[in-house]
Amino acid sequence: MARKPIIAGNWKMNNTIAQTKALVADLIPLVKDANCDVVICTPYTDLAAAVEATKGSNIHVGAENVHWAEKGAFTGEISADMLKELGVEYVIVGHSERRTYFGETDQTVNARVKAALSRGLKVILCVGETLAEREAGVTAEVVTRQTKAAFEGIDNDELDNIVIAYEPVWAIGTGKTATAQDANDTIKIIRDCMAELYCPKCAENRVRIQYGGSMNAKNAKELMAMPEIDGGLIGGASLKAEDFAKVVGFDK
Ligand code: 13P
Repeated sequence: MARKPIIAGNWKMNNTIAQTKALVADLIPLVKDANCDVVICTPYTDLAAAVEATKGSNIHVGAENVHWAEKGAFTGEISADMLKELGVEYVIVGHSERRTYFGETDQTVNARVKAALSRGLKVILCVGETLAEREAGVTAEVVTRQTKAAFEGIDNDELDNIVIAYEPVWAIGTGKTATAQDANDTIKIIRDCMAELYCPKCAENRVRIQYGGSMNAKNAKELMAMPEIDGGLIGGASLKAEDFAKVVGFDK
C-alpha cells in the first residue's frame, strides 16, 4: 500500500490575519490538483481566518503547538478543545524551536501528542538531531529516543493520525539541506524504530515521515523522489504561494 505524501507549511511566527487571507487566496488555485495532502500550520491568531479561507478547498489547517492539559491555570497556552472548536485538523508537536527556546522535553512532547490525539486532532510530530549531535555521530540514538518517548502509551490504532517530521536542527532556516540520501537514511532509522514499537507492516503502510529543513522549490523534487520520504514540513518556502505550490507539485 503506497503512503500518501503530505506537504505541510509551518508558518512559524509569520503573517497577520490580512496576510493569511491573501496568502490562502493565492494558494488555493495553485494547489487544487495536488495528489498529496496539503496542510498549512499557522499562528493561533490566524487559525480562524485560515479555516474560513480554506473552506471548500483541499487545504487543511493546523496549529503550531497545543497544551497537554484540558484546561486550567496555564497562562498563554491553548488547549486541544480550543483548536477543535475552530475547525483545526492538525497540530505540530515537538518542533525543535519549541524544544530549544521553550523548554520542550521528550516528556512534554508525549503529553501534548496524547492530548491532541484524545481530542481528535492529527499530529505532526517533529524529531531531529542538532549539529553537535550529528557531529558526535549520535543521530540514530537521538531520533530513536525522541520517537520512542513521543509514542509512549500511544495505541496502534492512532498511527494513521500521526505524521512524523524528521527535521535535522542544523538544516532549519540555514539554507543547508540534508542530502536526499542522508535524509532518507535517517528516516529509515525512524521507520525501523516504528516497526519495532508497533509492527513492520504498520511502519511500512501507515507511518508517514516527512523531511523538513530548508526544503524548497529547488530541492523538493530530489527529496520527494527518495523512497522513505513521504513529504515535507516547509518553513520559509511556505510563506510564498508560488514556492509552496511548487513543493506541493512534487507529490509523488
Ligand atoms: P525552513 O524550511 O525555514 O528551514 O524551516 C523548516 C522547519 O522548521 C519547518 O518546521
